[in-house]
Amino acid sequence: MNVNADQVNEWIRNRRSTFPKQFVEGKKVNDSIVEALLENANWAPSHGNIQPWRFVVFTGDGLQKLADFQSSLYKETSGEKFKETTYAGLQTTPLKASHVIAICLKRDPNKKFPEVEEIAAVACAVQNMYLSVAAYDIGGYWTTGGITYNEKARSFFGLGEDDKLMGFFYIGEVAVPSPPKSRQPVEEKVAWIRE
Ligand SMILES: Cc1cc2nc3c(=O)[nH]c(=O)nc-3n(C[C@H](O)[C@H](O)[C@H](O)COP(=O)(O)O)c2cc1C
Repeated sequence: MNVNADQVNEWIRNRRSTFPKQFVEGKKVNDSIVEALLENANWAPSHGNIQPWRFVVFTGDGLQKLADFQSSLYKETSGEKFKETTYAGLQTTPLKASHVIAICLKRDPNKKFPEVEEIAAVACAVQNMYLSVAAYDIGGYWTTGGITYNEKARSFFGLGEDDKLMGFFYIGEVAVPSPPKSRQPVEEKVAWIRE
């Protein structure tokens, strides 16, 4: 492959999550860039090339639609746990983004592979998006907050009983870059067996 390994190392290690409060509010990322992110997501690996990822892209007035849906679902279903600040966040946060992509898993009807492998494949697709936003010098992050795990959210995203909503990928132009982050040394997480 005609890629420079040093550049790839730097790209992977300097990729950062950029959160909506760091975005330039109201500034749109070109749809063609978002299409490229989605195309890259679609090249993720999956067992048997089953490609379980699905995406729903919200932008323009669609962001308000998402905000209305998620805040009213939260109000309807949170019961005693309802918090005004959470409700307000669900109403306003999507509007800070240029695009919000719902990350979905469409389960193979034949259930040929364990669910965990489909989840892993969707995560690979999201990592492709994460690396792509870094390459295009825009901001993005994966959130599993809000209504991600609300059973009643699925149908809004075209998902059935067996499928999963796996969160949202927020995209925006960067106003405030993320500071560098560290990792615990990889040596603490790896065992080598040599003999
Ligand atoms: C599956 C998954 C779910 C995440 N959910 C959230 C979330 O709900 N809220 C949040 O602030 N960040 C979330 N993140 C982003 C992490 O906070 C972030 O990746 C982590 O702090 C490391 O920072 P970095 O991405 O800049 O390296 C999520 C990341 C992953 C992979």
